Amino acid sequence: MCGIVGYVGRNADDRALEVVMEGLARLEYRGYDSAGVALVTDAGILSDKRAGKLENLRKALARQPLAPSRTAIGHTRWATHGGPTDENAHPHHGGEGDRLALIHNGIIENFHALKNELLADGVEFTSETDTEVAAKLVGREYDRTGDLTAAMRAVVNRLEGAFTLLAVHADSPGVVVGARRNSPLVVGVGDGEFFLGSDVAAFIGYTRNAVELGQDQIVTITPDGYAVTDFAGNPAAGRGYEVTWDASAAEKGGFATFMEKEIHDQPQAVADTLLGRFDEDGCLVLDEVRISEEDLRRITRITIVACGTAAYAGMVAKYAIEHWTRIPVEVALAHEFRYCDPIVDETTLVVSISQSGETMDTLMAVKHANELGALTLSICNTHGSTIPRESDAVLYTHAGPEIAVASTKAFLAQITASYILGLYLAQLRGETYADDAREVMAELRQIPAKIEDLLGRMDRVKEIAYFMADSRAVLFLGRHVGFPVALEGALKLKELAYIHAEGFAAGELKHGPIALIEPGQPVFIVVPAPDTPHELHKKVVSNIQEIRARGARTIVIAEDGDEDVVPFANEVIRVPQTAPLLAPLLAVVPLQVFALHLSTAKDLDVDQPRNLAKSVTVE
Ligand code: G6P
Repeated sequence: MCGIVGYVGRNADDRALEVVMEGLARLEYRGYDSAGVALVTDAGILSDKRAGKLENLRKALARQPLAPSRTAIGHTRWATHGGPTDENAHPHHGGEGDRLALIHNGIIENFHALKNELLADGVEFTSETDTEVAAKLVGREYDRTGDLTAAMRAVVNRLEGAFTLLAVHADSPGVVVGARRNSPLVVGVGDGEFFLGSDVAAFIGYTRNAVELGQDQIVTITPDGYAVTDFAGNPAAGRGYEVTWDASAAEKGGFATFMEKEIHDQPQAVADTLLGRFDEDGCLVLDEVRISEEDLRRITRITIVACGTAAYAGMVAKYAIEHWTRIPVEVALAHEFRYCDPIVDETTLVVSISQSGETMDTLMAVKHANELGALTLSICNTHGSTIPRESDAVLYTHAGPEIAVASTKAFLAQITASYILGLYLAQLRGETYADDAREVMAELRQIPAKIEDLLGRMDRVKEIAYFMADSRAVLFLGRHVGFPVALEGALKLKELAYIHAEGFAAGELKHGPIALIEPGQPVFIVVPAPDTPHELHKKVVSNIQEIRARGARTIVIAEDGDEDVVPFANEVIRVPQTAPLLAPLLAVVPLQVFALHLSTAKDLDVDQPRNLAKSVTVE
């Protein structure tokens, strides 16, 4: 998840650098590990790139200005392959005399194979990125053909994964070529100037006329216009539209709040977290590994340490990992872990889950596990942060930067990463569930489209939230993997709307909490799929009847086609069908949307709720 900008103009004031820097500032929400620009000038490509926020690049350019130009590209990075350093920052260069510059958003899944091929040809690399491979390939094609669009076309057909690429070449002033697959790219249409951006925020200060590109398309912009083709070179057309919002909303991609934007990022967050995870032999590719496969085969127990939403992701992980691997999994709140004299030795894998990678409680738990000789693995969303550095292995989630304090897309990415870990361990240890694992991966790949579908049906959830704005207490019930979803639904409501909310395991209800039910009490029930083993569905339907009989107002989250819940539900919120263990990736979405709109209805600060902080770096 990175921000990219491209510009060509025929205006006499040579403002390419200014336009690109302004675009990067508006796209910085997409990543801020490093930033860089490349300009096409009479003196060739001029480029500067710096680790850290855009401000570092801005200062460097103020100290050492680049010559004026009418053609430029710019990038703000959220690290995936290779840490956040100057060398790994984009643009990357290729071709004879490094006269080509290229930027990238996404993950090129087959970059290892392509890099080996280039290395064998004697090509030298200066970074650890997948992007530089694309730069070298496009540079080489340009040297053969002298045509930037043709060079891009030749290369994109060899790439697998997700990418938006923009390239410029010193010998083609006034031309920027872009290509997209599974990553966004929009064209901005100005008067004698054209723009490219990850989203319209990149150029909203200059034009509201935008053209959305389709999947697998290439676009070439010049001061005279833009031309679109498919990856085979056949002419194609984008979808033109006028942007209805202005620059002030730009950083949020047109949404009113970061949280709403991040909820809508979720299909991409899950898709990106799944990308590039398995090599040709079907083995998991961890991002950093300092644990041998032999050690992983020997583990006898797993302890997950995390706080808040991440701990609920850990609870979902427990169900899945135990089912697939038969390894006992315990979930510990990170701040309690150290003080319960944990039973941990060198055959224990301690898995930490953290969006920020900086939560002090989680960090201390990891350090303690290291002291006790455990193997430590970090599931983390922030490259180069402290917890991954302290861990023996890292599996990064690729949710992109999460800015709203209340976690949403990181939660889905954490659950996705936990599934990947569970499937990998099952495979490594030759458990009998390998076929199951393949099926789960296939189903997981369907999840982004299903979340997209679900997000399109949230109007009623919004209405319910507004209707319930005066609620004093809301209960959430779930069972099996629906239990952590209920806990997360309650946490979202507490964090965002300051309403007393509790999540319970539905089976626990009759052991006490049912006393809370009085006429009109709103209760959300996360219903398992009808085909969930052990007749759980039937049991939860009975739980709904029990509370309904005592006057509760029941808001039921149930799969498409589940008619059994209808007679006992005041409201039914439908979610697409999926495998029972994967259901949290869908069931939690309406609960996030509900909390968001209830907070909005109460006119509260959605992105920065009172008393909270995004990254809690104190114990
Ligand atoms: C804080 C945030 C939560 C988050 C938790 C763990 O409490 O408000 O949203 O779930 O920290 O954060 P981490 O960065 O470790 O996932």
